[in-house]
Amino acid sequence: MSYYKINNLEQYFKHYNKSIREPRKFWGKIAEENFVWYQGWDKVLDFDMGEAQVKWFTDAKVNIVKNCIDRHLAKRGDKTAIIFEPNNPEEAAQHISYNDLYDRVSKMANVLREQGIKKGDRVCIYLPMIPELAVSVLACARIGAIHSVVFAGFSASAVASRIIDCECKMVITSDGAFRGNKSIDLKGIIDEALEKCPSVTKVLVAKRTNTAVNMKEGRDQWLQPLVDAAVPNCVAEIMDAEDPLFILYTSGSTGKPKGMLHTTAGYMVQTAYSFKNIFNYEENDIFWCTADIGWITGHSYILYGPLLNGATTVIFEGIPSYPDFGRFWEVIDKHKVTQFYTAPTAIRSLAKENDEWVDKYDLSTLKVIGSVGEPINEEAWHWYNDHVGKKKCPVVDTWWQTETGSIMISPIPFVTPTKPTYATLPLPGIQPVLMDEKRNEIEGNQVVGSLCIKFPWPSMARTIWGDHERYKETYFSAFPGKYFTGDGALRDEVGYYRITGRVDDVVIVSGHNLGTAPIEDAINEHPAVAESAIVGFPHDIKGNALYGFIILKETGEYRDRDNLTREINEHISSHIGPIAKLDKIQFVSGLPKTRSGKIMRRILRKIAEGDFSNFGDTTTLLNPEIVDEIKSNRV
Ligand code: WT7
Repeated sequence: MSYYKINNLEQYFKHYNKSIREPRKFWGKIAEENFVWYQGWDKVLDFDMGEAQVKWFTDAKVNIVKNCIDRHLAKRGDKTAIIFEPNNPEEAAQHISYNDLYDRVSKMANVLREQGIKKGDRVCIYLPMIPELAVSVLACARIGAIHSVVFAGFSASAVASRIIDCECKMVITSDGAFRGNKSIDLKGIIDEALEKCPSVTKVLVAKRTNTAVNMKEGRDQWLQPLVDAAVPNCVAEIMDAEDPLFILYTSGSTGKPKGMLHTTAGYMVQTAYSFKNIFNYEENDIFWCTADIGWITGHSYILYGPLLNGATTVIFEGIPSYPDFGRFWEVIDKHKVTQFYTAPTAIRSLAKENDEWVDKYDLSTLKVIGSVGEPINEEAWHWYNDHVGKKKCPVVDTWWQTETGSIMISPIPFVTPTKPTYATLPLPGIQPVLMDEKRNEIEGNQVVGSLCIKFPWPSMARTIWGDHERYKETYFSAFPGKYFTGDGALRDEVGYYRITGRVDDVVIVSGHNLGTAPIEDAINEHPAVAESAIVGFPHDIKGNALYGFIILKETGEYRDRDNLTREINEHISSHIGPIAKLDKIQFVSGLPKTRSGKIMRRILRKIAEGDFSNFGDTTTLLNPEIVDEIKSNRV
């Protein structure tokens, strides 16, 4: 029996049980039957959860790009691999076949090698959602360079800290980026970032907006002439199963972003397997994930998952509101999209517009619609199901994380049932558990707890770049022997999981994972600020928005509070990016703190939400009187 495709409910349980009883046999068989390897493995799995050490397919040799492109050429050479839909609907879409993609990636890979990039070197990719982004990522993987894609909405100092952390040798960027009716000066941002990044000796610049940019002699080169001059065909690097594939930064509850390191074979196996089943992918489907490749969703479900299955994947450069609120639906109609994967924040923002925007397009090609990034509320779920899926497309509410690499808990369309707001059941191979405060596993159903995973899975991150202790501490220490997700969840009467949200100091704003600490660090750099605390509060569109409680220094200089509010937000924008701006700012004379000096965020969260009932135990506070002041001045 093959385990790659789950066809019905009975088979789901059969595969699930097999995957728990004999995880090595289960994943081993999937790996063996569905990929091309230079050499097989010694052991399917070798691990020590206590030390946060996990190895899949030890000693196997493979190249993920050979699996994404080369092996499809004989059968699918002329098939479209990538549909590029530009920001401006008047600009022609591009259809890039598997043959074209092979040529473009091979040439780009040769350019990288000529520029001195070798296996193991880090390359920062800071590009808009254009074909060059996909080609650059795959070119790195082809030669074994480690890509670190940084979302092109991040500010110069955010890019700089990510480049410095993993010592990138090269940056690939573009002159600019189109975003709705704006254009953004990406090269200018990189120039500013690189003032602080001595490790970068080369910058390759793609042309997109044709705006004038500075080219630094000896460092910067236009990309296209190099590609044009490159030789075709590039021998792929033979990679060890556990060789690093990429680093992707995610925020944590301390200031420094965490460079999550993903390795080659396990990531390949699980992204491919999850894509096939969760989106019910069949040959000739047109798959569209609206995420940016700068996030894990884009890595796994715009690029690797679809291409590993020889699928056609859409890369969309634009935004849902440009030129109007019908853009997503127009693109589905235009390209006859069969699977559509987006985020609750986008669904909510489009649901609040007139239904005519969606109703006027032909969405009848859709089979499966998906959601990711944060809990999807009941109302948004139903709107999505009714207006986009027309009640005939299963809604896959997919729970996972940058750290997990691929989808972990989700319905499987036409196989397992859906339930509004529930991610439902784990994928075969995934062993979620709920834990109580005493660190005991909670058995049975109709229970709530902290969501952990108790057995390794192939696409899990292996470490935090340069800081294994932090990796161990963050994910493997709260519940010894288990991976702690940072999320709370409930399990209903039949065993379906519903993710209730973060239980730590991370806030999900518009699907973006924002640690409160780095934002606080940025605010505290403002000369007028003494201290600050950020919490999330519910927001109709964004899911959560940020509320800042700020203590000013007693210099009396900054009397104009409006001005100060603006300055603080500008400061956050330039240090982290506009997504981290505060919706509300309250100036306070103190913050509720425990005797050990820890800010009691639970109380601030309740005040931000406007819920003044039951603050819980405040007797451990050093300064209980501050609570009344903050309450009465809430904005
Ligand atoms: C956090 C991870 C994985 C891709 C996008 C985000 C939240 C994600 C769901 C969902 C409820 C979800 C969790 C998780 N989250 N998907 N379907 N239902 N919550 O990746 O930035 O690493 O964020 O997003 O809180 O821990 P990320």
